Parts: sequence; C-alpha cells; structure tokens
Amino acid sequence: SAIYLKDYQVPPYLIDKTELTFDLDEATTVVTSRLHMRRNPESTQQNAPLVLDGGEDVKLIGVAVGDCALPAEAYRVNEDKLVIDSTPDAFVLTCETLIEPQNNTSLEGLYRSSSMFCTQCEAEGFRHITYYLDRPDVMSVFTTTIIADETRYPVMLSNGNEVERGKTEEGKTVVVWHDPFPKPAYLFALVAGDLAVKEDVFLTQSQREVALKIFTESHNIDKVDYAMEALKRSMRWDEETYGREYDLDIFMIVAVDDFNMGAMENKGLNIFNSSCLLASPKTTTDDNFLRVEAIVAHEYFHNWSGNRVTCRDWFQLSLKEGFTVFRDQSFSADMHSDTVKRVEDVSFLKTAQFAEDAGPMAHPVRPASFIEISNFYTLTVYEKGSEIVRMIHTLLGEEKFRAGSDLYFERHDGQAVTCDDFVAAMEDASSIDLTQFRDWYSQAGTPIVTVTDSYDESTKTYQLTMTQETLPTPGQDSKVALHIPVRMGLLSQEGDLLPSSLDGTVSDEHVLHLTDFEQTMTFENVSSRPVPSLLRGFSAPVKLRYEYSAQDLLLLMSSDADGFNRWSAAQQLAVNELTQLINQAIQGQALSVDSTLVDGFRALLNDGSLDPAMVALILALPSQAYLSELANPIYPAAIKQARQHLKKQLANTLSEEFERTYHEHNMAVDYQATAEQIAHRSLKNTALSYWVETGTEAAIAALTKQYETADNMTDQFSALSIAVHGQLSNAGDLLASFYQQWQNEPLVVNKWLALSAGQEQDNALQHVQSLMAHPAFDLKNPNKVRSVLGGFGQNVSGFHNADGSGYRFLADQIILLNKRNPQIASRLCTPLTRWKKLEPTLSALMKAELERILAEDLSKDVYEVITKSLN
Ligand code: ARG
Ligand code: ZN
Repeated sequence: SAIYLKDYQVPPYLIDKTELTFDLDEATTVVTSRLHMRRNPESTQQNAPLVLDGGEDVKLIGVAVGDCALPAEAYRVNEDKLVIDSTPDAFVLTCETLIEPQNNTSLEGLYRSSSMFCTQCEAEGFRHITYYLDRPDVMSVFTTTIIADETRYPVMLSNGNEVERGKTEEGKTVVVWHDPFPKPAYLFALVAGDLAVKEDVFLTQSQREVALKIFTESHNIDKVDYAMEALKRSMRWDEETYGREYDLDIFMIVAVDDFNMGAMENKGLNIFNSSCLLASPKTTTDDNFLRVEAIVAHEYFHNWSGNRVTCRDWFQLSLKEGFTVFRDQSFSADMHSDTVKRVEDVSFLKTAQFAEDAGPMAHPVRPASFIEISNFYTLTVYEKGSEIVRMIHTLLGEEKFRAGSDLYFERHDGQAVTCDDFVAAMEDASSIDLTQFRDWYSQAGTPIVTVTDSYDESTKTYQLTMTQETLPTPGQDSKVALHIPVRMGLLSQEGDLLPSSLDGTVSDEHVLHLTDFEQTMTFENVSSRPVPSLLRGFSAPVKLRYEYSAQDLLLLMSSDADGFNRWSAAQQLAVNELTQLINQAIQGQALSVDSTLVDGFRALLNDGSLDPAMVALILALPSQAYLSELANPIYPAAIKQARQHLKKQLANTLSEEFERTYHEHNMAVDYQATAEQIAHRSLKNTALSYWVETGTEAAIAALTKQYETADNMTDQFSALSIAVHGQLSNAGDLLASFYQQWQNEPLVVNKWLALSAGQEQDNALQHVQSLMAHPAFDLKNPNKVRSVLGGFGQNVSGFHNADGSGYRFLADQIILLNKRNPQIASRLCTPLTRWKKLEPTLSALMKAELERILAEDLSKDVYEVITKSLN
C-alpha cells in the first residue's frame, strides 16, 4: 500500500517533550517513554484518535494517560499502530515496551553490533524502539536516561549533553542526556559499549569551545586521526562558506561495524559505518581517505541542513540530502581539486543515477508516492538532488546563492519544511524567478538536449538550436519543458577563446537558459566558425547530443578553457571508439581500433604540463557500467570484450609512454592523502595497468615489486587489482598472500572479498560461493554482503553467465536476506531491475528470477522494487 504526497496532513498531536528510559539488556531491553503531548491547534482533525507508530517487534507492557493506567478497552494495538480513542487536550502519555536488541537483524531501531548497543532511526526506525509519532514534522525536546552494567558498557551516549550520572540500587550505572534542540525521532541516537575515545577541541568563530570525541572499539582507535582532522576542516568550512556555526558544546562520532548505510547525522552523536570513518595509510586507499573526509563533512553539515532545518515529510528527503551532498561536494572540491572532484561526481551521476532514471524505479527528486521510504535513499534524491541545488547556484551566482541559504536557515530554523520552501528562500533573496525551475523536483527522467548549429561567414553570426526531450517514466507519460542552464563558450578552430555577443553581452562564456522544447540562440561578432564547448562543468544533469567530429573532440580535449569539458571531450572520444568496437563484437567481427584515440592518448602522455590526476581520469576508459547505461540493448560480454581489446591495443601501441609515465610518477614520499600525492599515485597506477597489458617481464616485475614493497594500501591494492583484472598468472598467489597479511583487518578483508568476487574466471560462481563459506564472510554484516555480492555484480562472466546461474544465485541471496535485513535485500535487487535493457536471452533469464522472488512472502522493501521492476 503506497502513501502519497498529496495526502499530507499536519499531525493531529504534538509532542513537546520526550523522556526516554532504557534499561539496557542484550536479550530484553525495557523502554519507558513519557511523552508530553497536546492536540495540534493547526490540525483540522480535533477529534481524531491518537495513533502512534510502533513496529511488530515492539511489545507493549503498559500505557497510561496522566497517572491512570489505561484499561485494555481504552486502546488497541493493531499490527504496527497503537490507537487511543480519546485523550485530553494536553497530557503525559507513558508507555512501557520491551524490545530484543540481540534479535534485531534488520539494523533499524536499537540493535547490537560487535559488543555494543547502537541505533539507526532514519527514516522510520524509532518506531522499532517504542510507540511514537514517528514522522519528521513532530519535533520534540529529548531527555534520555540509560541504565546499564558499567563493567560492560562504560560508555553510554545519547544526543545533547550529559547532565547526570549515578547508580541504581542494584549497582547499575545511570546516565542522563539532554538535547535542548527540538528534533524529530529520526535524529535520536543511543550508543553503549566498551569504547575507546579520541578527543579534541574546536574553537568556533564566536570563540566557543566544542569538545570533539570520536569513539571506536579499542583496536581501532589508532585509525581516527584523519577523521578528526576532517571534522575540524568541515566545521571551519561551514563557518566560512555558509556562516554556520556548531551549536552544542559537544560533538561525538561513533564507529560501528554493522550498519546498513554509510553514516547518520543524529544530533550531536553521529553514527558511522566503520568503513566510512576509520583510515590509516597502511590499510586505507586514497579513494577511501577522500570518502571518509566527504562523509564526515556530509554528516557534520547535516547539523544545519537537516537537523536545525529538517524535512516536513519523507517526500522532501532531498531538501536535506540533495543540499547536503551539494555542500559536501563543494567542500571536497575546496579541499582538493575542483575539476577532479567534478569529473568524479559527474561520472558517478551519469553511470548510476542516469541508469536509475532510465529504469523501472525512476522517480522525481521529490517522489509523489512510495511504499517503503527506505527504497528512496537513492541516487536520484541524493545526487540529482545535489545537481538541482548546483543549478540554482549557477542561476543565482555565488553571492545571491549565499543570501538565499542565509535566508533559508534564518527563516526556517527549528522548522520541518519542504523543497518548495528552499526554492522560495532562494527566490526571495535573489529576486530571480524560479517558477519553471521547480519542475526539476517533480519530473522524473533525464532530459536529452540535442544541439545543432550553423555559422554565417558573411554576417559573423553563429546560431545554436537546442531541443529538449524527456522520455516517459513509470507513472509520468508526458513531460514538461524544464529550465535548463547551459553554460558554454566558443573555441576557434585553433583552440583559442572566441568571445561572442549574446543579447548584447560580450563574453568568453555564457549561461544559456533553455526553457522551451526548442529554442534558437544567435551569437553576434563571432570572428570565425567556432567549435562549441557546451554544458561546461556539467551545468545541468542532462544527456547532451551534438555531432562533434573526432577533430572537434581532440581540439576540446587539448584546448578548452573548461577543465571539465576537456575530460568530457576525451570521454566522448573513447565512447565513440568503444561503441564501434562493441558493435563489431556483437556482430562477431574482428575488432579494429581507429587511430584517433591512440593519438589523443599519446599527446596526453607526452604533455608534462597537465595535472596528473586529470590525465589518469582520461586514461581510465569508460567503465563497463557506464557503457551499459549508454547501450540499448546491453550485451555485457561484448562490452567487456571491447574494453579489453581497446586497452590492450592502447597498451601495445603506447607501451613506452606508459612505462615512462609509470616511472616518472613512482616517487618515494611519506604517505599523505593530499591532492598532489593522490594525483601522482593515480597516474602511476593507471599507467601500470596499461603497461602490464603488454605482458612484458619488466612490467610484471614492476607490479610485483610494487605489491611487495608498497608502504601504503593504495599502491599495494592497486598492484593487486591490476594483477587480478589483468588476469596475470600470479594473481591467485597475490590474492592469497594479501589475505594472509591482512586477515585481522576487517576493512581490508572486505576489499579483498570484493576483488575476489569480481575476479573474471570460468568458475566465477563457484568461487563466489566458496567466498560466502569463507571464515572472513558474515551474512549479518552488510559491508561483507556488499563486498561479495557487489563485487560479483561487476563480474561479467560470473553474473551474466549465459546459463542464468549468476542471476539465480543473486536471487537466492535476496530471498535469504529478505526477512533478515529488508533494506540490504532491497538494495541487492538493483542489478536485476535492469532486465528490460539486456539483450533478449539474458533479459528473459533475469525476468524469471524477479518472478521467482515475487512468489516469496516479501518485505515491503523488496516487494516494492520487484513489483515496480516487473510492471
Ligand atoms: N541521513 C543519512 C545520510 O545520508 C542516511 C541514512 C539513511 N538510512 C537508512 N536506513 N535509510 O547522511
Ligand atoms: Zn545525508
């Protein structure tokens, strides 16, 4: 049963204060709540019964209104609701409930991870702790009392400040926490365990001292220094960039091993998947360092964009997530290289979000309905949501955007609001009309923008004609024209900047406003026939179509003033080449590589003036996943064959360049996760991945030496992955030695699991099955499940095996996890949702597995994805 945005009503009751007591016990925890409630004067339902949310895993012991325990006939518990037919206008509701943290495998609500208790309440986890108005527009001041055995749980944490500590008569410890900021229940958190702590202090811009504490199990406390520094950088950046200062006297982060997602922004007490917090040079790759920094920043930034100003309802999820992703992306760009960061973010968007937008789960950034909200923590809500905020930034410019965000935070502090309120603040502060722009929130699908042009030598005028089209998506057959900002400039045939005049403004760069289905823009004073550089910085999340010649692309790649578009042109060149090879492979022809890309890559490798990180990004061929997104239908084996063939050809033709590049960027340094060092390592390792394709002894020896002597995980793991993906004969030995070396570091073992599961080989499926029986595997741990099944999903020969065994295997795992952990099971369905785009034989095999899953007794999470996929 779906719920709809159009049915939104304000809550009939409010909860001004929430007092919770947890008597912690692994088997049965007693939760007592005292809710200071009153009827909401703004509700039109003044006679409505009180309906509280609660999970089937919550056992109600007793309920009282004021001092009177309610008799059985005064309330009803049906499935997941507690209904009390009549209440006074204002009253204290007391509930006593029992929960079983030890048996909580869904990792929602209160559960056990390793030796600790922890919580995850977003989006609707709080109802698995006790009965409540579990919706984000009910904001309350929380006081939390934790009672536990101090010998096993010396650390007991909740939101806000610790205000009291004492003992019960039986000698248990009692700790009381109070959070002065009203918040919805999804931001509640509790942690108890025997944890080590790393402490620091941050001095805010108004000179207040904030105590910073990061908690982990004791064996991990040596891996939090980087996160602590990243936190301080985030706090400073939010003051400087958005004028946002932290508000409590203490900010805590806890790392837990079992966690469904990346991390959670609970007020004053962020809880992190340990894979997104712990970092050390020996065990963590460059990518993972940057990920830790970005997620620490993301969760911290939520304190304003999410907590101080929160969402009215879950349809508005992108209000906080889209904006906060935009904020963390901007932060990372400022800390490192903005072009590199933009290329990475856009690659990800175009690969994964575009695929989501083209599939059966396509939905608007502000969905109109859902069955299970957990299914809507999506790339569309997060990444496309961020692109919407970025477009607003482009339309308003830096200064007005800041004025808009200031107004938004000031106007809505302490409120639960909508995406429309966000846009209205941006509009009011800038006087820029965003009426049409708002449709980005409600319209699903990726617009296709097609551009044609003409140049008139005699009048020196240049015309661009742009059309936009968005294909139908489930439940949205007809589409409106969106307001699409197209940042662009012109280049001469020699690659020089070509200023032009548009509507009287002379500039090297313009922002075009595509607002109709078709529009023509005329540029004056264009001195020669230009090559257009369109959609600079990826100024809108659209598919751009313009018939660039190979010559045009080479020119843009070497000369465009916009770094992002230099990458984009190179990517297009590689896509064009690969598309030809893929078609040859599908038709069973011999594959033959054109010289254009080879020439482009040679020039790149010989130009010492370029940022090595950008060179590495360009040399990394478009991924299997991205090429699959572009293809229709998808022939996975042909894509793989084409990529391998092109890589080998490039390697053989440019072997000297790759060898030289490898050595040039292989420098001995004290490891640091700085943009500069990361750039050298990424180019070095990319060059190595080509060089070993030549199969020469020198290359294999260099790889082996790097594997054996590396003093950091980036170089060691790169060497290992290159050996595995390059199918070198020593790959098996290296994998075995890697496990031997790192078997006591779970996060490293997870990387090993993913790489092993992705290893292309004849018996790939059996291999993955043996990994799931390996002592390093644990079905209860989402990171391990993600490593093995995620890695297997990338395994073309294993997952897309022509006999359908790969799909069957994944379906079996989904069925296995369906009840145990619905959120994880639902995420695992994603590869199967792409069945319609696959070539007919594989498509039918995949569809059959979806139907097999549907025959099971499904959780809401899995049910929604499977039924929508089959529709
Ligand atoms: N708000 C968190 C973040 O993006 C995500 C938590 C989502 N958790 C969930 N189980 N759906 O920062
Ligand atoms: Zn978030």
